[in-house]
Amino acid sequence: MTKKIGLIVGSLRKKSFTDAVARQAAERLPEGYSFEKIEIGDLPLYNQDLDDNDNAPKIWTDFREKIKGFDAFIFGTPEFNRSVPGVLKNALDVGSRPYGKNVWNGKPALIISVSPGAISAFGANHHLRQSLVFLNVPVVAQPEVYIGNVTNILDDDLNITNQGTLDFLKSAVETLADWVKRFEN
Ligand code: FNR
Repeated sequence: MTKKIGLIVGSLRKKSFTDAVARQAAERLPEGYSFEKIEIGDLPLYNQDLDDNDNAPKIWTDFREKIKGFDAFIFGTPEFNRSVPGVLKNALDVGSRPYGKNVWNGKPALIISVSPGAISAFGANHHLRQSLVFLNVPVVAQPEVYIGNVTNILDDDLNITNQGTLDFLKSAVETLADWVKRFEN
């Protein structure tokens, strides 16, 4: 059966560099793997009172159900002030609760960090990795995917122009596909 990979991007910008790079990576998943973008921009900020009172917004419960239907995830993250954008952290938090019902549990993930700067969103990449480890997500160890100076490899339509980068992204998503098999129950 086709394995479903969820694409989650920590930028809400229409012309997001991160979205462009993560999508072009996902398009290189091997045969037998499909991907779908999961929107996170409308999720209300996490507030435990709502879960405690059995009053979780439908949009949270729908999101949690949706996440359960995926086999693995590609996380594309930009860096905001040396960390993960709040919108992405909020999506992780919403999926992690109520306590004991973490929907990310055991599903492998690949992190792709993207920046126009030279440090390649290293800080966001590592903070995201740490949160995912806490959520019991097996995060692809190698290759680590840091895409820096991104505007040098994108054309006006945000297509990646550098074959070496495309080959590298392909190898990364192939590794994620291997990890799906490795962690299959
Ligand atoms: C940034 N940017 C940024 N870049 C970086 O490499 N390290 C950082 O810590 C930050 N901090 C930061 C904070 C905030 C609030 C914004 C809006 C931006 C710049 C960022 O990398 C740039 O805007 C990217 O283009 C954002 O990614 P998308 O939207 O193109 O995917």
